[in-house]
Amino acid sequence: MSALKILVIPGSLRTGSINARLAATAAHELAEAGADVTRISLADFPLPIYDGDLQSKSGVPKHAVNLKRMMAIHHGVLIVTPEYNSSVPPLVKNIIDWISRVQDAQETRGQVYRDRAFAIASASEGRLGGSRALAALRLILSACRATVIPNQLALSFADAAYDDTDRLRHPADIEAMDALVKQLIDVSQRMM
Ligand SMILES: Cc1cc2nc3c(=O)[nH]c(=O)nc-3n(C[C@H](O)[C@H](O)[C@H](O)COP(=O)(O)O)c2cc1C
Repeated sequence: MSALKILVIPGSLRTGSINARLAATAAHELAEAGADVTRISLADFPLPIYDGDLQSKSGVPKHAVNLKRMMAIHHGVLIVTPEYNSSVPPLVKNIIDWISRVQDAQETRGQVYRDRAFAIASASEGRLGGSRALAALRLILSACRATVIPNQLALSFADAAYDDTDRLRHPADIEAMDALVKQLIDVSQRMM
């Protein structure tokens, strides 16, 4: 069997992003568990806010097509999203919207969501750890008919969640990360 490939997408471009940090931790754990991990930055896939007129005039932008194809060469995808006003930030929703408009040859539109496993995580400096963004993201991906694994990680008080060696310090967070990693690998393998 070929190596299991997992794509990790941090949903923030901000310097010092706590979600990018959590994405890096998750990528490390996934690699330790044997996956072949690609961690990208959405800065490399700049996209305008979705606009149907723009799509009619110029087609789907090349960065959306590239991001969709990047997803398509992986067996599983982890999205690590910030929480903005109890939901997902526009950056995350916008890539999901654009990708849902990409249709390569020999496939139906949005097929990239249906053929692989998705996992979701979030980090926030608040008590809820971005869990409302996770609920919103799960709903959006499920509406795209993605398989979203049940295990997820909402990292509360993210600024104090790491030890001096940059590892998660609290047993509950470590357990949630382990469970997410194991289940993402397991479900991605079954969908290969
Ligand atoms: C517009 C906006 C809305 C926010 N709303 C929430 C919120 O609803 N819940 C929350 O926990 N944090 C909220 N925050 C704080 C973010 O969680 C915090 O800025 C976090 O660092 C953003 O993620 P990042 O560091 O990965 O960029 C909000 C921040 C912004 C800019």
